[in-house]
Order: sequence, then structure tokens, then C-alpha cells
Amino acid sequence: MPRALLLENIDPVAVELLSAAGYEVESVRGALDEIDLIDALEGVEVLGIRSKTRVTAKVLENRPELQAVGAFCIGTNQIDLAAATAAGVAVFNAPFSNTRSVVELAIAEIISLARRLIDRDRALHAGTWDKSASGSHEIRGRTLGIVGYGNIGSQLSVLAEALGMRVLYYDLEDKLALGNAERCGTLDELLERAETVSLHVDGRGGNAGMFGAEQFARMRPRSLFLNLSRGFVVDHEALRDHILSGHIAGAAVDVFPEEPREQGDEFRSVLRGLPNVILTPHVGGSTQEAQYDIGRFVAGKLVDYTRTGTTTLSVNLPAVVLHGSSADRFGLLHHNVPGVLARVDALVGDHGLNVDGQVLATRGQFGYVVTDVSAELPAALLAALRELPETVRLTTSG
Ligand SMILES: NC(=O)c1ccc[n+]([C@@H]2O[C@H](COP(=O)([O-])OP(=O)(O)OC[C@H]3O[C@@H](n4cnc5c(N)ncnc54)[C@H](O)[C@@H]3O)[C@@H](O)[C@H]2O)c1
Repeated sequence: MPRALLLENIDPVAVELLSAAGYEVESVRGALDEIDLIDALEGVEVLGIRSKTRVTAKVLENRPELQAVGAFCIGTNQIDLAAATAAGVAVFNAPFSNTRSVVELAIAEIISLARRLIDRDRALHAGTWDKSASGSHEIRGRTLGIVGYGNIGSQLSVLAEALGMRVLYYDLEDKLALGNAERCGTLDELLERAETVSLHVDGRGGNAGMFGAEQFARMRPRSLFLNLSRGFVVDHEALRDHILSGHIAGAAVDVFPEEPREQGDEFRSVLRGLPNVILTPHVGGSTQEAQYDIGRFVAGKLVDYTRTGTTTLSVNLPAVVLHGSSADRFGLLHHNVPGVLARVDALVGDHGLNVDGQVLATRGQFGYVVTDVSAELPAALLAALRELPETVRLTTSG
């Protein structure tokens, strides 16, 4: 029976799916360090981790039997992706499973800021009854400006409109407007027109510090600001200045340039203690529903890859789908040099077999071809494929 090891308390749905696919699954609560991980991976084909386990080049070198790694989270920085690709190990993650959770938090925060809920809550906890409509607004009819109209930004657009907001968006790419949302040609145009600005850009290097004093100054007086994307995109000193001056009437921030490493570590930020500022510890995507969906999604990708060779949405391998499944299928990850496909097909023919189906894709220095052949795969063919100088890894499915 093939073995799978799941670390860091991954949702039980992943155990169910991998077990149903024929894996003997061991699930462990905590993370493992490099040495313990190498030990634990003996005979393991599929590894599941979250953000705390590092899959280094040394781990990969020591465990050639490992075929695939599932990052049951969004980020994959904890995995040496270049080393994984060179070792022919497919890596999958769950980039979209928590989209809805982030959007729901953003909606909750837009309403909370517009009603100054946290200030009222703090006052009442401190024993002060301050019943007033001053500074409280409905969000119906208000204009929301979404910066970054990707998975999260576009879903926020739909929910905000359903609540009666007018939506403007700005994206570097020419994204299709959903519903009645209106595309802005520049960030400045959005900042000058929106009453609430919500950032949902990705983490590309060029976005570091993209939102600072100049952008806050361009926002309309008494507008609201949210960042649930990446901490390093916003200058928090500038945000603090604009909150204290009253130019920005409230803010919600979920992500920070530096976040405490461990649970319980002190959180340091210039935004602490400011009025009508909601601070949350990077929990935008953290819900039970998102955890379940991440478990379901990543386990599904691992099963698909090991059973059918499908690499759709792999973080590091070329994307290939050959529909159906076959016991007479092999996948060959190889160096992307001219003539490999011809050599593969010649070897298949030399062993008296026909190619029934075949899909090839390349990604940088690597190519990946999945092939169905007309009869049972002979051991001699598999040996010949493994010996091709371009071969990185040969896998068989079924
Ligand atoms: N707070 C959380 O817990 C949490 C959870 C999930 C995702 N996120 C973060 O939310 C962000 C959005 O996630 P997503 O899944 O929607 O990503 P995505 O890649 O689908 O969308 C990002 C969009 O931003 C656009 N973009 C990038 N830079 C831009 C710029 N400077 N100006 C305008 N548009 C720009 C891109 O073209 C893209 O359309 C990411 O940074 C992600 O890491 C946070």
C-alpha cells in the first residue's frame, strides 16, 4: 500500500480522500524539523504540510521515493520549489479555498467601520453609554473602490453590490467587470472617487510600499481603508498619520509587514490603539470552512496526480491533463530540450506499442508528457524511459 504522511493537523477530509484512494495515511498534529522529517518520510510517496514544515533540498535529496507534496495552505515559500522540480516532485497548494472567508471579513469590516462599531463596543465595555448616530452610516449607496480585481477583489465586488454599494475597481490587468462594477483607468481615479478603499493585490515585489502617504492623501476626506492582502504593500506610518489627522475615518488591517512568528508573541505596530481601527491577526482566510475546503482541494490534487498524472494547478510542474485514467499510462518529467517527445514515442514503438493518447506541456527548463499506450507497460520500456538522459522522473499511474 502506498503511504501518505500528513503533518500540522490537516483537516480530516484529506485523510478520508487519500485513504479512499488506497493510501495508508498517517496524520500528525505538529510540524517536523528537517532531520525528523527525513526520518518520517521513509517509504512515503505523498507528504502534506501547512506553513511550518520546511521541505528543503536536503529533505528531497534524501527521500527520492517522495512523489508529491501538498501545501494545505496558500503559500509555498516553505518548500524549495526549484529543488522539488529538479527532483521531479510535484507541489500543489490551495490558492482559492479561503477566498470567500476573506470577502466575508472585508464586508463585516466595511459595515463595522461605517458604524464605528469597535469604538462603541470599547466604550460600552469600559462602562460608557454613548448612544449617538453621529459618524454612523449605512453602506447602501456608498462607493467601494477595490484595488486588485482577482479572486478576492472580484468576489468582494459581487457581495458589496448585493448590499447596495456602488463598486469601482482598479487592476493592472484588463479584468472583466462583474455586475455593475466600473473599471477605473488609474489608481488615482479610484482613490479620488471611492469612499472606502479595499486592497486585494497580490504579493509581487513591485507592490512593496505601493500604498503610502501620497495615496492616502489622494483618498477622499473621511474615507475608510482596508488591507487584507499583504502587509508590505502599505506604509503603516502614513496610515497612522492620516488616521490621527482625521483624513481617514477608519481602517481595518489584517496583514502586517512584520507578523509575530509564534502564537502569543507580542504584536508591535504603530497602528495599535488608534480610534476606529480594526486590527486582526492575519485571519482573513482562517475559517473552519476554508480549512475543510483546503483539505478537500489539495488531497484531490494529490490523488489526481498520483493516479492519473494530472498536474493542473501544480505550483511547479507544467500543467497537463490526459482525461480518464489508465493502468497503461506513464508520466515523464524531463529536461526541456528538442527531440524528447520523438525519442519517447520511438521507444514506445520499439516495444511494439501504439500511443493511444498523449499530452505534453513545458514550463521553463522542464517538460512533462503523459502518455497512454495500447497494452500493458513492459518493464523494459519503463527501464528504457528511465535511462533517457533527459529524464527527471518517470511515474506510472493506475
Ligand atoms: N488576509 C488573508 O488571510 C488572506 C487570505 C487569502 C489571500 N490573501 C491575499 O489577498 C491578495 C489577493 O488574493 P487573490 O486570491 O485575489 O489574488 P489574485 O492573484 O487572484 O488577484 C490579485 C489581483 O491583483 C492585481 N494586482 C496586482 N498588483 C496590482 C497593483 N499594483 N495594482 C492593481 N492591481 C494589482 C492582479 O492583476 C490580480 O488581478 C493576495 O495578496 C493574497 O496573498 C490574504
